[in-house]
Amino acid sequence: MEKIVRTLVTRDEIAVFVDRMAKQITEDYGGEEVVVVGILKGACVFLADLIRKLELPLILDFMQVSSYYNGTQSSGNVRIRKDLDYDIAGKHVLIVEDIIDSGVTMECLKRELMTRKPKSIKVCAAFDKPSRRKVDFNADYIGQEVPDEFIVGYGLDYAGKYRNLPDVCVLVVDGGDQ
Ligand code: IMP
Ligand code: MG
Repeated sequence: MEKIVRTLVTRDEIAVFVDRMAKQITEDYGGEEVVVVGILKGACVFLADLIRKLELPLILDFMQVSSYYNGTQSSGNVRIRKDLDYDIAGKHVLIVEDIIDSGVTMECLKRELMTRKPKSIKVCAAFDKPSRRKVDFNADYIGQEVPDEFIVGYGLDYAGKYRNLPDVCVLVVDGGDQ
């Protein structure tokens, strides 16, 4: 059985970084239209908070992806389970993700979306676990770095559960590493 052992990031701390990121993103795009791509399902809570603070003309779209990495290549592959509704050619694209862990998902997805000839692509993630990287990838906007622990809440799940917790908590699973 899994157990929540402590709170790692409180809802108040999250609100502070969401504010900071939204200000930076608003400033960086300087009033230009952006297609904001939320990565289902984990990013939904962060996305809802972030977009309401962006003072930009934006179009909201979603993708759901799963990534594969065999450990021997420098990059992995991504399977698209739900694709975009909009054509992003010539558009600014901002991908919104819950957490960057190995970096495989975002590195692959960014490469895939680049083939569609957007004007630009940036990645924004609520959390980052840089110590777990398997591929060379850095997001453009990060809310908070976290240590190498399994976290749930604020959209992040364990076996589909805990996404609704307002604070981010550390979860320990008995009889396994994660
Ligand atoms: P990556 O391809 O390894 O960077 O995978 C990132 C994905 O793994 C995220 O979108 C999450 O769905 C999941 N993930 C990574 N670390 C955690 C965690 O600590 N809690 C919950 N999900 C996680
Ligand atoms: Mg995810």
